[in-house]
Amino acid sequence: MMSRAFRNARLLIVDDEEANVEVLRRILARAGFTRVESTNDSREAAALYVQHRPDLILLDLHMPHLDGLEVMDQLNEIAQASYLPILILSGDLTPEARRDALSRGAKDFVSKPFQPDELLLRIKTLLETRFLYIQIQSQNQQLEAKVRERTRELVEAQTEIIERLAVAAEFRDDNTGQHTHRVGQMSALLAKQHGLPDKQVSLIRRAAELHDVGKIGVPDKILMKVGKLTPEEFEIVKTHTVIGARILSGGKFPLLRLAEEIALSHHERWNGEGYAGMKGIDIPLAGRIVAVADVFDALTQQRPYKPAWTVADAIAEIDRQRGEQFDEGVVDAFLRVIEHAPENPS
Ligand SMILES: [Fe+2]
Repeated sequence: MMSRAFRNARLLIVDDEEANVEVLRRILARAGFTRVESTNDSREAAALYVQHRPDLILLDLHMPHLDGLEVMDQLNEIAQASYLPILILSGDLTPEARRDALSRGAKDFVSKPFQPDELLLRIKTLLETRFLYIQIQSQNQQLEAKVRERTRELVEAQTEIIERLAVAAEFRDDNTGQHTHRVGQMSALLAKQHGLPDKQVSLIRRAAELHDVGKIGVPDKILMKVGKLTPEEFEIVKTHTVIGARILSGGKFPLLRLAEEIALSHHERWNGEGYAGMKGIDIPLAGRIVAVADVFDALTQQRPYKPAWTVADAIAEIDRQRGEQFDEGVVDAFLRVIEHAPENPS
């Protein structure tokens, strides 16, 4: 008694002799197969394959129009890399014929006239292989889906940890993390407008959130001081770039390496008058981008030592600093971003 999987297996017979097809159909029906298609015209084989997606093809070799080898060529083209069991039924099974058929994808041979028992055993073996292949394929798909899911979770975890780290850094003066979040968003808009590829834009969005992570190393009494900083205090504030880069250094992932670069360079100025005196294109592009995003956000927000600027004033200031504090290309990108912003203030 055959299992349900075998009874439900789809078979396709391609043989030009009607009598052969009838004999085969009878043998298969007696064995319990219920889904058998057949044709005497080998030119129909490809269409029938597409229509029925058989689990096994019983194929004659010598046929008018298209012979068995040509049919296999057609089927291989349609089936591409998927496993296609073909059982050759032929009276002419010379070593050459076997070799030709094997090279075209035949999986087994049965000589005509065939013994029904042998034929059925070979069909069963081929179907077992076919079902195992399908099973492995479905397991692979499940595994791939699981890997995709885990990868997504990892990226989410990474993003979340980075956001928390950024909030920790700014906790003393911005415990909502809004500044870091806005700088990340604006940096991504600038990067996109600057023409960077989507993958890089997304990395900059997340890495930019860590630009001030080094503030963790700046003492409270300086960071939270309401009055003007002394020159010595300002020198200590300036160390947040180096501290941030040190915290992030040696990272294995592109995201951390980019974050390190941004932490170190976001206070550099195009004209070389920034914290470390880096100049022009020696300043990494991500640093030049975050510099604009950071200053724009700082200007438009109220701080203990200054009122919030209007957006229009802040835009004018950024524009005034083109080629001085900021890279002209990034300022151009900034102006285009502002122009396209839904809440265009002008
Ligand atoms: Fe900073």
